[in-house]
Amino acid sequence: MATEQNLRAQMVAVARRMNAAGINQGTSGNLSARIPGGFLITPTSLPYERMEPVDLVALDFDGQPLAGAPAEQRRPSSEWRLHADVLRSRPEVEAVVHCHSTRATALACHSRGIPSFHYMAAVAGGPDIRCAPYALFGTPELSSLAVQALEGRLACLLAHHGQVALGRSLEQALRIAIEVETLAAMYLEASLLGDPPLLGDAEMERVLEQMRTLLYGG
Ligand code: 13P
Repeated sequence: MATEQNLRAQMVAVARRMNAAGINQGTSGNLSARIPGGFLITPTSLPYERMEPVDLVALDFDGQPLAGAPAEQRRPSSEWRLHADVLRSRPEVEAVVHCHSTRATALACHSRGIPSFHYMAAVAGGPDIRCAPYALFGTPELSSLAVQALEGRLACLLAHHGQVALGRSLEQALRIAIEVETLAAMYLEASLLGDPPLLGDAEMERVLEQMRTLLYGG
């Protein structure tokens, strides 16, 4: 198991890779990783190129500084509640990535999720990727709607906001966030020729079974 120090270094690296992958810019995204009793989360309003492992904030699931955390911590991401509620409700999840990646957000601005137009829509564990209804950022309403949209899935879009991706590791959460952005780009492009036809439920069930059999993306 990674020590907290290793995890902090990994989180900084993944945060910078979000920028390099083009799914995040400025200070609009955030990520978290589970630790005993709570989670580490990126601080609010600190660009990733300036962020160091010591800047990550250790919280319990009520947003309080975790027992044993450094006395002087930075202010946590304004989305700490979203991360806390997702991690609390999904014990199998170790990491959460949130970002405003351009194309996923463009779809979410129309309250559209990603349907089964391409078999990789199954990457999040179901036949589609839902879009949660809009709620103000940082609120319990937003996290409750996101937790619902994430039921049985490792990703969802957030209306007029962005996307959330989960993983059993930081690597997996990052990979899924990048895949969601790629799918959104393909969907927008395919829509230029009209609404693309969708793969049916039975075929998406076969895709999901094939992914399980091949441990695809595991
Ligand atoms: P931070 O508060 O994590 O800097 O980001 C804002 C945000 O993503 C709101 O959704």
